Amino acid sequence: MSVMRETAPLLRAENLTMRFGGLTAVRQFGFEIMPGEIVGLIGPNGAGKTTCFNMLTGFYKPTEGRVVFKGEDITRWKPHAIARRGAVRSFQKTNVMKTLSVFENVLTGHYMAGCQTLLGTFLPTSRVRRQEQAMRDSAADIVQRIGLARRMNAPAHLLSCGELRLLEVAVALAAKPSLLMLDEPAAGLNSHEAAMFGDVLKTLVGTYVEALLLVEHNMSLVMAVSDRVLVLNFGQKLAEGRPAEIQANQDVIEAYLGKAAA
Ligand SMILES: Nc1ncnc2c1ncn2[C@@H]1O[C@H](COP(=O)(O)OP(=O)(O)OP(=O)(O)O)[C@@H](O)[C@H]1O
Ligand SMILES: [Mg+2]
Repeated sequence: MSVMRETAPLLRAENLTMRFGGLTAVRQFGFEIMPGEIVGLIGPNGAGKTTCFNMLTGFYKPTEGRVVFKGEDITRWKPHAIARRGAVRSFQKTNVMKTLSVFENVLTGHYMAGCQTLLGTFLPTSRVRRQEQAMRDSAADIVQRIGLARRMNAPAHLLSCGELRLLEVAVALAAKPSLLMLDEPAAGLNSHEAAMFGDVLKTLVGTYVEALLLVEHNMSLVMAVSDRVLVLNFGQKLAEGRPAEIQANQDVIEAYLGKAAA
């Protein structure tokens, strides 16, 4: 007997619910992210998108529901343990240190990801020195991949808005995620910068990360890069489908796209 086995999802959220006192920010939200996918998560302000990120990454403990990542139930895990397992998120606010250079920011991201110990830094053995070199090579590689090679040694405060957004992604990549979750990574970009940013995101899947979950209000960007789009409205899933299906969905147009386009 032959058994057809489908590819396992990288992440599965089951019935996620988050209540804050009397307010239900997210209600019975379920979805899967498959390896190789870019999934867009959209919805009006206050729809529950960031709350969803917080539940997926251990910053909030869901009131109900489960998060399964790489086959393991991570619902009650601490944020650092989830990040170490490979689910890494960016924040709506920047993770960049303005006085450090582009390279130093990405290198710091490697340290933050726990690749090196403090003791190791002060008592450098040859093994530690090899690890240091590997981190520096990795940081340079990420800066290159993200398209900031020209700005490698520039302090972050000199970067344009578009370059800064790319650096934020580079710092998150330093943690070596398999699932990278980006919360409004293209905020403040003009349409040309956003299109370039989208092109970079697409190159990351299958090379640096297995899958991407993208919260973004820039509709042309979300629709251009996503394989699948999830729509949240008042904490509940309103629709799910390919970008073209979502753009044609009457409920979505009424709840969100109509307003966003206006
Ligand atoms: N820690 C908290 N305590 C109480 N209420 C919260 C908390 N975090 C989020 N909320 C509420 O949950 C709802 C969803 O907020 P959330 O930040 O997830 O929305 P969002 O979709 O990310 O919005 P935006 O597009 O503006 O970033 C809002 O009503 C918000 O005020
Ligand atoms: Mg948000």
